[in-house]
Amino acid sequence: MENELAGWNPFKRKTATKAAQVDATPPAVVKPLIRESHRRTAETGGLPRFKSTASDQVSSRGGDRFAAVRARLRDAFTPSQPVADRRFFAGREDVLRAVIRSIEDQRLHVVLYGERGIGKTSLLHVLTQAASEARYIVVYTSCGANSKFDETFRAAAAEIPLLFHSGYSPTATEAEKGATLADLLPAEPLTPRKFGDLASKLTGTRVLIILDEFDRVDSGAFRRDVAELIKNLSDRLGRVQLVLAGVAADLTELVEHIPSIRRNIFALRVPKMTETEVLQIVANGERETDLKFDADASASVVTVARGSPYLASLLCHHAGHAALDDGRNVVQPADVARAVDMAVTEFEGRLPKPVQAHVRRLFDQGRAEVLALAARAALSSDGIVSAAEIAASGEITARKAEEIINALVAEGLLRPNLDGGDERFAFVEDGLPTLIWMTWAQHNLQSDTQPARTPAVAAS
Ligand SMILES: Nc1ncnc2c1ncn2[C@@H]1O[C@H](COP(=O)(O)OP(=O)(O)OP(=O)(O)O)[C@@H](O)[C@H]1O
Ligand SMILES: [Mg+2]
Repeated sequence: MENELAGWNPFKRKTATKAAQVDATPPAVVKPLIRESHRRTAETGGLPRFKSTASDQVSSRGGDRFAAVRARLRDAFTPSQPVADRRFFAGREDVLRAVIRSIEDQRLHVVLYGERGIGKTSLLHVLTQAASEARYIVVYTSCGANSKFDETFRAAAAEIPLLFHSGYSPTATEAEKGATLADLLPAEPLTPRKFGDLASKLTGTRVLIILDEFDRVDSGAFRRDVAELIKNLSDRLGRVQLVLAGVAADLTELVEHIPSIRRNIFALRVPKMTETEVLQIVANGERETDLKFDADASASVVTVARGSPYLASLLCHHAGHAALDDGRNVVQPADVARAVDMAVTEFEGRLPKPVQAHVRRLFDQGRAEVLALAARAALSSDGIVSAAEIAASGEITARKAEEIINALVAEGLLRPNLDGGDERFAFVEDGLPTLIWMTWAQHNLQSDTQPARTPAVAAS
């Protein structure tokens, strides 16, 4: 295109001379572009528009015959938001069953941990619905760096009606007026003991206090107070149970002071999704949107997502829109390839430029498979790899795996993982394994539109 347009100066002004008129006439190659621009202007009024209104009404403008499907697609795959609607919640039956059993039968407090985007908050939403149906009072709090014990648990107390306090009859005037446990709290800062005292007086209900994003809390005092509260509530058979969730590779990373409360908690690392669960994400979307994913497109999503509900949701979202943009309501492997392109662009934007350039250079130098093998192993274990994990797939020998680690350390992309001893290594940026894996997928999906192949290689 650039070559075809070479020599044409769109800024040249028309003059009366013949030569100048010839000069000023756009060459043939430009005419289709002008027609296209007229068509777009007529169609869209020039600039891109929103396709539906903020009240979720599909806009009648723009003539998109798939406008309604698009609107449903937006609800079905929400890569930037947790799932709140059970219709779109896939799999996780075992996790949910285990959590409910430990809350209900064992009266334990729960700690859910796992990598970013693995589905913790979505699980908590579904748990909240299940507990609410069983008449639990559920208080959901998303913690922040500045969360304080006093503030957090005062707010929780404000959600618990006073009528469940054994010292007040449900007909007492305070209870009738809609007072809550917060009204009984002293003005001085709330302590775990004081909150535990109150909780031990509850009757006729049970309360779940969910502290999501617990890893974000900076204050050591808050973490210690929460551990102390768990101990206090457990010892006094309180009717309040805590559910903590956060990003962590292991339990102690999320909750300090674990030894004192180990017997009182049920800790669960939220696992990668199975292939069946990822396929269920696709199937839920198909059911709710009237889009169909052909078998190869679904297989590509499964291969590329590698058990991450976030990646599955992102790919389905982009692939669905790509198909609709092309006038189809059947998603094909080529649409998943386009979705991967978009994802790569997104992920690149989250990493420093030199790191992006470094990865691209290694891909250009034909070292894609070395990178992909390490990235794939890292994605299976929270970003941390060892030679044994790389070799575990059985595709390469332990010696080759060692060579891969050494090569990537020499490149400055892997560094020893301080917590895990000498054997384990971490990528220097959190988002690197995902970017490498998606770039690998991009290369494979481009070369053919079959499901992405996995890196089965004699890595050099
Ligand atoms: N069970 C599920 N079914 C369908 N989609 C899911 C499921 N779990 C998670 N997702 C999708 O994966 C993405 C990440 O989910 P979620 O926000 O729950 O993860 P998270 O572990 O809380 O992430 P973070 O650590 O960033 O808080 C969301 O886009 C959500 O739509
Ligand atoms: Mg979350």
